[in-house]
Amino acid sequence: MTHSVSYTRDGDIGVITVNNPPVNALSQHVRQGLLDSFRQAASDDTVATVLICDGRTFIAGADITEFGKPLQPPSFLGTMEMIENLPKPAVAAIHGTALGGGLETALCCHYRVAAASARVGLPEVSLGLLPGGGGTQRLPRLIGPEAALQVITSGVPMTAGQAQAVGVIDEIVDEADLLAGAKAFAHKLVAEAAPLKKVRDLNDKVTGVDPAMFDAARQRANAERRGFEAPQRCIDCVEAACSLPFDEGLAKEQELFRQVLTSQQSAAQRHIFFAERAAAKVADMPKGTTPLAIKRVAVIGAGTMGGGIAMNFANAGIPVTLLEAGREFLDKGLAVVRANYDRSAKRGRFTTAQVEQRMGLITPSLNYADIAEVDLVVEAVFENMDVKKEVFARLDTATKPDCILATNTSTLDVNEIAAVTKRPDKVLGTHFFSPANVMRLLEIVRGEKTSFETLATAQAVAKTINKIGVVVGVCDGFVGNRMLHYYGGQAQFLLEEGCMPQDVDGAVYDLGLAMGPLAMGDLAGLDVGWRVRRERGLPERLPEGARYCAIPDLIYEKGRYGQKTGAGYYRYEAGDRTPHPDPEIEQLIINYSREKGIERRSIGREEIVERTMYALVNEGARILEEGIAQRASDIDVIYVYGYGFPAYLGGPMFYADTIGLDTVYKRVCEFAEQDPASWQPAPLLKQLAETGGAFN
Ligand code: CAA
Repeated sequence: MTHSVSYTRDGDIGVITVNNPPVNALSQHVRQGLLDSFRQAASDDTVATVLICDGRTFIAGADITEFGKPLQPPSFLGTMEMIENLPKPAVAAIHGTALGGGLETALCCHYRVAAASARVGLPEVSLGLLPGGGGTQRLPRLIGPEAALQVITSGVPMTAGQAQAVGVIDEIVDEADLLAGAKAFAHKLVAEAAPLKKVRDLNDKVTGVDPAMFDAARQRANAERRGFEAPQRCIDCVEAACSLPFDEGLAKEQELFRQVLTSQQSAAQRHIFFAERAAAKVADMPKGTTPLAIKRVAVIGAGTMGGGIAMNFANAGIPVTLLEAGREFLDKGLAVVRANYDRSAKRGRFTTAQVEQRMGLITPSLNYADIAEVDLVVEAVFENMDVKKEVFARLDTATKPDCILATNTSTLDVNEIAAVTKRPDKVLGTHFFSPANVMRLLEIVRGEKTSFETLATAQAVAKTINKIGVVVGVCDGFVGNRMLHYYGGQAQFLLEEGCMPQDVDGAVYDLGLAMGPLAMGDLAGLDVGWRVRRERGLPERLPEGARYCAIPDLIYEKGRYGQKTGAGYYRYEAGDRTPHPDPEIEQLIINYSREKGIERRSIGREEIVERTMYALVNEGARILEEGIAQRASDIDVIYVYGYGFPAYLGGPMFYADTIGLDTVYKRVCEFAEQDPASWQPAPLLKQLAETGGAFN
């Protein structure tokens, strides 16, 4: 029919096969092929039609690369209508993932069978979209509005079993021969003269629905996905399914789909989708580089990070030895891991049996001899070069020669650490983010001598433990923390110039970040930053002409280390993480400005946002120039998955592109003129601004 869709007869059954690698997306030629094939099926003497896909999956959705361009005919809806109106049973045979437009296509078939390993869902919301192929109107009719709201607003796919339980899948068939299962099912329908079940005509579940359900869903979505527009529009559509006849509901869906499709939020979220996938690619990695198999892991250090890192491996079913220097630390670390698992079990995320199984995979040890056979070590000991070097020298002799040695350092030179071993090609950084068992980001730090095989292995491990791995180069703070240094710096300078912590954090929070820089300091612990500054000899060894704000030191000296002591930039009530402005700190800040001779002024939200965001962007540009990040979109992925930057802004570099780099550069130059000690415009930013370029 087209090069990607074929129609064949298999006895008295017509079989339509989609073959559009890699994920059988509904590209223009697929829609055309489906239309032609179903037309053919309608007119011949076959008794039923099976829609099936070649390759690794059923149709995984619309072709996202077509979004943002004029849509070429045939339309989705025209194709869907043709399928639903087939005058004989149409059966979708699902394997892999039937997502978005893929599930919507299946919902237009009269029946659906699936392999047990298949998953189905409507993930459009994660792309800032809503299901625009009738999904918001058909799914509630099939499974009821409450279940449909859950599927559509979460975007999380269901397993075949779950889908069968709610009525999306009619039968689970033998995985080994999906086509045979689908044909047998179709023959059964024919033999029983089963009705052609058009989902559009099922009205029972969408009649008499209490509208309060939608208000509750809106509030929930607001709390869970603050600032995201798409979940709200998804809810509007499901409400329309319950209050309007099918065709009017469909028209409403189309209107709102066009609205979200052209929104800045969706452009940003689609950018992140592709950025995440681009991040998995290392430009100079030779084709065919194969990762080593990682069957056993050791984590050195059972502190907060070490324990969290060990949990990742246990969650993925990989045995992990947790090694500590002393019994007391080891017991304490294990107790924290158990407490974390118990908390998850209480919230219903794991069963007690799953907790025990995971704990069973973590073997505590005090002896380096116990890690002789592991394939990978992740070191998470105290952040000090001498300590790390000592540990790596020891690891080099304690482990087998092909074992990969990774350091979880967040600041130190990976090359210097690698140099104490006889296998620098097998050394790299794996920088986890706190809490390590929760945060999705993993900075994979490529040392000068790290081999491609080692790098590929780290990337594969990241995938196995459900992290987004981004390869970065060696420098102080790598990508994320190096940029954060400048962002945090501006937050403090804003304090001494006239802001209060709540002003700075409020502006950043309103922009959409999970929390502001000062609240983040309270969460991470102000003692941590203080210790890092002392290690660097600050403020005594401040470079000539550099600007330094001592407010965090003064707060630290009061014993206010942040949330852990109930006070930092803010004060906290016992057992509560809500920051409350504190008059004591406000007075401290005012006194500090006076002592430094700074005349405090009123600073607007716009300036706060510009200074904090452009500090990130300007340093991001330097990082790109230096090749520490491979591409701007890698930086965006790092900020979205590691630092609570909202996906609907697309990350700091995409955000700057949206504003226009000429505008950003102009402001950075103005800031540099007023405050040359803390601003030096990055040459790449200048160059792109002057040539009308963009980071992405
Ligand atoms: N359109 C275009 N390209 C797509 C795509 C899509 N819907 N889905 C995946 N791809 C591309 C990826 O960009 C990637 O390309 P590269 O190899 O060039 O990087 C390639 O296919 C393979 O993808 P993954 O690396 O993600 O492969 P995976 O096996 O890990 O995952 C998947 C497969 C679960 C299908 C995953 O790709 C995915 O979640 N895709 C998006 C699904 C989706 O959101 N569908 C809804 C689309 S919107 C829609 O359908 C609107 C509507 O209602 C009409």
